[in-house]
Amino acid sequence: MSKPLKVGVVGTGGISKRHMDAYLRHPDQVRLTAVCDIVQPLAEEYAAQTGVEAVFTDYGEMLAKADIDAVDICTGHRHHAAQAIAAAEAGKHVLTEKAMAHTLEGCRGMIDAADKAGVTLMVAQHLRYSPEARAVKRCIDEGRLGVVQAARTHVIMQGPQKSWMNDGAEGGGVLLLNSVHHLDLLRYYVGNVKRVSAVMRSVQPQMINGAEDLAAATLEFESGAIGDVFASWTTYMARDGTSYTVIGSDGTIQSTPPQIGADTDTPVRHFGTILFGEKEVGLDTRNRRDLEKYLNPPLEPLPTRDDELPSPNYFVNEILHFADCATSGREPISSGRDNVETMKVVFGMFESSRTRKVVDLDEL
Ligand SMILES: NC(=O)c1ccc[n+]([C@@H]2O[C@H](COP(=O)([O-])OP(=O)(O)OC[C@H]3O[C@@H](n4cnc5c(N)ncnc54)[C@H](O)[C@@H]3O)[C@@H](O)[C@H]2O)c1
Repeated sequence: MSKPLKVGVVGTGGISKRHMDAYLRHPDQVRLTAVCDIVQPLAEEYAAQTGVEAVFTDYGEMLAKADIDAVDICTGHRHHAAQAIAAAEAGKHVLTEKAMAHTLEGCRGMIDAADKAGVTLMVAQHLRYSPEARAVKRCIDEGRLGVVQAARTHVIMQGPQKSWMNDGAEGGGVLLLNSVHHLDLLRYYVGNVKRVSAVMRSVQPQMINGAEDLAAATLEFESGAIGDVFASWTTYMARDGTSYTVIGSDGTIQSTPPQIGADTDTPVRHFGTILFGEKEVGLDTRNRRDLEKYLNPPLEPLPTRDDELPSPNYFVNEILHFADCATSGREPISSGRDNVETMKVVFGMFESSRTRKVVDLDEL
């Protein structure tokens, strides 16, 4: 068996805690050996929880001194490109949280730097790594939905409290924070988007430097399928307001994307159904009892192949996939090269809203 990938995490705020389980539970494949945050007590707390001794407050110092093969970038969007490029130039593999970067130039710079250094670049689009998403993907790829004609997604929720997430200069706004997940899932299922037309607004006073809290767009996929995106942070008391729909000639998928489980032992929830004519197939294979409370007759479960993914927790799966790709040289499912196509949809939406024109993504 190959040696575990040694990783240094940078940014020990909210999402980094979700990455912890993979390091604690799979040290034979991926081992956390360094921790960095500009706020020292946060870095120290994370290090104490993970049993790591090497603690840094300066990222450049971690790259230069720590015993690491790779970095796990969990900082805000504005930092991703610079930190990923610096890591690649230091010969380290890169896993970065979404959104890949806050500019398209940044995304392309990351890909170039990783290619030049011959390292793996992966974006943590965790929704792709749930067993349920894999089952949907397989279902579409096997043609069980027929010809996919349309796909749509919406995010309707209260906005975040963290100030950088509401700041356009930091890469904040509902599209880069939230819709980027669901757009990526639609691309995973339906393929690349060719054209977009969008309108967006910055409504609430906490939204600064043009960050949008309301957006709507129509999409044209390369396959000819059409779609739309709606995103709002302006909604009070919204509960679980995210969902997507994929409409095929032989069936329809309607689902909420999988939700974060409390920890590795809490399976993620992925409520929804696939409709084949009169037949309903449940997407939620792990919390079926919750669904069955509401649905009569009960749904027939969609079989998931558990052997494809080691854990019910998508964060664990994505990190193990990263470790596997970095050590084997395989291209990740959510590689930088793949994810830039998701980012083009978002940046195309910005451009379309600014110019009030339809944007052809090939021209970005
Ligand atoms: N996959 C998901 O479901 C999900 C959920 C939430 C956030 N995210 C993503 O995770 C990333 C971080 O979000 P968050 O909620 O954890 O943010 P956060 O603000 O809680 O954490 C960011 C951390 O980075 C640190 N930091 C900032 N600049 C730094 C620097 N130069 N060097 C070292 N540390 C630095 C901050 O001190 C902070 O502790 C974002 O890209 C966000 O979109 C993903």
